[in-house]
Amino acid sequence: MSKVITIAQQKGGSGKTTIAANLAAVFSLKYNLSTTLLDTDPQGSLGKWFMTRNDKLKSKNTIQFKTASLWGAQYEAKTLKEKNDLIIIDTPPKIDADGRPAIEIADLVIIPISPSQVDFWATESIIELAKREKKEILILINRANSKSKLIKEAITFINEMNVKKAKTILGNRQIFVSSMGLGLTAVEKQRTGKGCLEIMSLSKEIKSLLQI
Ligand SMILES: Nc1ncnc2c1ncn2[C@@H]1O[C@H](COP(=O)(O)OP(=O)(O)OP(=O)(O)O)[C@@H](O)[C@H]1O
Ligand SMILES: [Mg+2]
Repeated sequence: MSKVITIAQQKGGSGKTTIAANLAAVFSLKYNLSTTLLDTDPQGSLGKWFMTRNDKLKSKNTIQFKTASLWGAQYEAKTLKEKNDLIIIDTPPKIDADGRPAIEIADLVIIPISPSQVDFWATESIIELAKREKKEILILINRANSKSKLIKEAITFINEMNVKKAKTILGNRQIFVSSMGLGLTAVEKQRTGKGCLEIMSLSKEIKSLLQI
């Protein structure tokens, strides 16, 4: 049974696009799942990454890519489910009720947050939306500085919101930035680097949650 993961967060720059691309690469390359990225963000950064990737890898690019409007996400994802094991939907920042179709179709909603109070405030409405739709939610702490006290505060916030937290925390890693610019991802540039290990560990958590 094919599955849909939607990555959503009101706050801009929380890592949605980076996480979408990196997870797609792991599921496609390491788990051999046919994977399509569905970009609903008119900013088009995932599309630019994908075009760079296609130019570089040509027929070796195993990830598929589609775009849709936020409203069209559900229809497009339903169609894609027929021919894919996994669809990962990247969404724009500042979504509200207009994000509902992308949430409704999801088997799992991943909400990345930076450990910062501003991100905590911005996260409540998307959590409420996903909860209303009775979706499985995974809050993912991203761009964490392991020495920062703010990680503890992020964990307290997540517990207070009564939602599941990913055991994996993604650190602030240069590999996520540099690999994206080349149309690649952490696992394609590293074997044992921290960013690579973190994204692998996250994918294992997701795999067991979704039973894929
Ligand atoms: N774990 C990380 N470590 C270091 N840099 C990161 C990490 N995650 C994301 N970034 C960087 O943070 C910036 C924002 O990331 P990204 O574009 O993925 O966020 P976004 O949530 O998709 O943004 P938007 O809301 O504008 O769509 C990018 O420069 C990206 O390279
Ligand atoms: Mg983005």
